[in-house]
Amino acid sequence: MIKIAPSLLSADFAALGAEVAEAQASGADWIHVDVMDGHFVPNITLGPPIVKAVKAHTTLPLDVHLMIEKPELYISDFVAAGAGVITVHAEACVHLHRVIHQIKEHGILAGVAINPATPASAIKEILGDVDLVLVMTVNPGFGGQAFIPGTMNKIREIRNWANAIGHDLRIEVDGGISESTAPLVAEAGADVLVAGNAVFGRKDRAAAISAIRAAAEN
Ligand code: DX5
Ligand code: ZN
Repeated sequence: MIKIAPSLLSADFAALGAEVAEAQASGADWIHVDVMDGHFVPNITLGPPIVKAVKAHTTLPLDVHLMIEKPELYISDFVAAGAGVITVHAEACVHLHRVIHQIKEHGILAGVAINPATPASAIKEILGDVDLVLVMTVNPGFGGQAFIPGTMNKIREIRNWANAIGHDLRIEVDGGISESTAPLVAEAGADVLVAGNAVFGRKDRAAAISAIRAAAEN
């Protein structure tokens, strides 16, 4: 089953409560929350207090994407704020195995993300320990960028590895996902589709979500 995770990065930050409630009413499965620190990526967004505030307006899992250095220092804060999934970047973790297990100890889902230039092999050893792999389909930092087609081989490779070890892995894609790119990534093996601009950039969010879902499921 495909999950659609609208990214709050393209929502109205002055009305996040209403925006998440509308996304939920419009058929979203998860709410994707982009946390940026101005160091790992060249942009700054939000932290645990905003996640906690958003959590009060939805019953959907909050899918927290940490684009920050030293994510291990903030895991418990994001769990306390209500995260249902926490994803850290392989490039930001010297001790990735330790951080993944730190997340899992809290009883929530643990994910690892890789940038477009990072090979799939960077997460091969940790594959059996994670619930989710996030394959970045743009360079992280900003919404509304163009999908990088070269990332699709990695989705296929990771799906094959997961199948080979019988692991029911979620593969998430993030960046430039729309009605037109959704069928490509779904065919390659992705099953959680993040969409910022393609959902919050449209007036009719329900139509946007169902169009992406329909395109992915075809
Ligand atoms: C990019 C973020 C994405 C972003 C995607 O660094 O991780 O989640 O919001 O935005 P779109 O879907 O507009 O490319
Ligand atoms: Zn993201």
